[in-house]
Amino acid sequence: MKKIILCTLCAMALVACNKPNQCTGNCADNCKKECKKECMEKAAITNIMTRVSVREFTGEKITDEQIDILLRAAMAAPSAINKQPWAFIVVKDEAVIKQLGEALPYSRCSNKPAIAIIPCGDLSKAIEGEMAAFWINDVSAATENILLAAHAMGLGAVWTGLHPDMNRAAMVQQMLGLPEHIIPLCVVPVGVPAEQPEVKDKYKAENIHYDRW
Ligand SMILES: Cc1cc2nc3c(=O)[nH]c(=O)nc-3n(C[C@H](O)[C@H](O)[C@H](O)COP(=O)(O)O)c2cc1C
Repeated sequence: MKKIILCTLCAMALVACNKPNQCTGNCADNCKKECKKECMEKAAITNIMTRVSVREFTGEKITDEQIDILLRAAMAAPSAINKQPWAFIVVKDEAVIKQLGEALPYSRCSNKPAIAIIPCGDLSKAIEGEMAAFWINDVSAATENILLAAHAMGLGAVWTGLHPDMNRAAMVQQMLGLPEHIIPLCVVPVGVPAEQPEVKDKYKAENIHYDRW
């Protein structure tokens, strides 16, 4: 049984939690702790469960504060031996976004995103030797954090792949003047959603194995 302790403020927050993305987590100091905790847990799980790829945008700008949150979320990701072998290119220039869209139709950059973020691996910061490829896991974790943070802020985003397609990665590397040791993993257009794709239920019990195969 869930233990719910209500106060006026918390009751409002809990109602808000039932609407994806609308929980502010702000049922702050004058609230009972248990309620605030439940509200925040619920908001975090709801955010994960309701994230979808958004590929159509309105063309509206987003603020530097929003961009800052996306980048902070990215760099909050885990990384092997905490190497943080990443770099993020934020493309705000409309002409460059257009260029990306023309060169990479799958990147959805022609669909009026406000910005495009290109999460990259920085090989000069990666683990040395045969474990170097862990950078891909690390930058993938950072990318997922960007998607989740965007969704939490009511923005839309989609992960569009570059690496390991060497042609696509080389194209972006050249277009954005990336040094050789900076490998672009993907392009993430971000903006105000112009579509509301349905959430896909991907849960499959048969994918789960307890203790052994
Ligand atoms: C590695 C990777 C590459 C992807 N590449 C593209 C892409 O090039 N273009 C695109 O529109 N979506 C791309 N996607 C998004 C997937 O199509 C999407 O995540 C998937 O269909 C599940 O839908 P959802 O994100 O709405 O849950 C990619 C996702 C991942 C993880």
